[in-house]
Amino acid sequence: MKILIVGHGGREHALLWKLRRDAPGASFFATRPNPGMAALATPVDLAPNDLEGLATWADGEGITLTIVGPEVPLAQGIGDVFRKRGIPLFGPSAAAARIESSKAFAKQLMERAGVPSAAHRTFTKWPEAEAYLKDQGAPIVVKASGLAAGKGAVVCGTEAEALSAAREMLAEAAFGDAGREIVIEEFMEGEEISVFGITDGRHVSLLLPSQDHKRAGEGDTGPNTGGMGAYAPVPGVDATMLDEVREQVFLPVLEALENSAAPFRGLLYAGLMLTPEGPRVVEFNARFGDPETQVVLPLMDEPLLELLVAVARGGSIEGVDDPVFTGRVALNTVLTSGGYPGSYEKGKEIHIPQGLVTPRSMPGNPRPGPDETGDPDDGLLIFHAGTRRNEAGRTVTAGGRVLSVVGFGADVAEARERSLAAARAIDFEGKTFRPDIGRRAVGSL
Ligand code: AMP
Ligand code: GLY
Repeated sequence: MKILIVGHGGREHALLWKLRRDAPGASFFATRPNPGMAALATPVDLAPNDLEGLATWADGEGITLTIVGPEVPLAQGIGDVFRKRGIPLFGPSAAAARIESSKAFAKQLMERAGVPSAAHRTFTKWPEAEAYLKDQGAPIVVKASGLAAGKGAVVCGTEAEALSAAREMLAEAAFGDAGREIVIEEFMEGEEISVFGITDGRHVSLLLPSQDHKRAGEGDTGPNTGGMGAYAPVPGVDATMLDEVREQVFLPVLEALENSAAPFRGLLYAGLMLTPEGPRVVEFNARFGDPETQVVLPLMDEPLLELLVAVARGGSIEGVDDPVFTGRVALNTVLTSGGYPGSYEKGKEIHIPQGLVTPRSMPGNPRPGPDETGDPDDGLLIFHAGTRRNEAGRTVTAGGRVLSVVGFGADVAEARERSLAAARAIDFEGKTFRPDIGRRAVGSL
């Protein structure tokens, strides 16, 4: 079996790590892999959004399964390009990926399907948005409708903030095309959870719920980011609640997509707010979440690969139970470059103390070395994201989110302690992280 991973962040490193465990004998390839991924896969020097180039390469190489991590190639139609050529790919068509790439489309779909979500209005003209915001007042949420790397939603505590966010998007094009259309939504309160569903378009197998931490600052303050950390499972989210989410959110939305001639095959991610009236949708994504994948997949107690293969080949997963998880807790502290989500410097050398990760090579790992990832049984996994190897052979920073440091334990407190100890021990200039990942689960930290 030959497997290609498209993308090179922490999520893709975790996917590669999991699939290597599932299929130690398979050959793995990855587009422009970070050094952590390069220890586990053969590099392919093609950009994730070079759709035709990737399809031609995958065809020539005889790739049996392609898995797409990031949203941009999905929104651009990588699923369509591969399927047209008959190459199995795990990920939805561009039409189905609109559930993520157009918040306005997602909202319409939810309304049609009767899926609970925040009340909203869509705008393309600043004067109309301005009048609506003045009428509604705060708190309120202003969102760019298009893709904005997790940074396009502004939760506004005051009317002035809301007006300035909407003005920047519509009148000043702060998010470029992504903000030409905006969605203004009712502010919802409650705990947020992320639920991943692997779906063949009609049936869905739900993975372990997790909780992301989107705000940049301690105590959930500051701007939204791509995600500063996550943990799983989320206390209190039991099988009954998960069934409710399946019945009230996943199945109706999948049916609505199929009825719009856009059946969704791949991973559907529901970001949910647990409100007193029940779970309500904050957003959908058309792919695995980052940084949640880094905690969910290592806790899976059975293979992921078979499910992905079945969906990619166009098969049915009817009757497949939700996967079993270990019962342990995983907590991911993301180390970021100083300044993220704003501008930041790159090229800072990363020091991972010797002995922090036991160089215990995983089955089938062709190239164990300095970027060894660790092992959940030793309590720690390190996934690379924005890293690269420089000319001198050193691992240096190359992006906003640099490393995912995942601790494991019997409970959130233990997993957190392990993650934090490693987050503190790893060093690079400008290193920033939130020391309070899991705060809502462990009480006031
Ligand atoms: P989104 O890009 O839509 O996922 O939004 C990013 C983050 O903004 C979410 O994870 C929430 O924390 C927050 N958010 C988005 N929509 C709402 C809402 N209607 N009410 C409260 N918070 C929201
Ligand atoms: N964790 C949020 C996302 O992947 O979009």
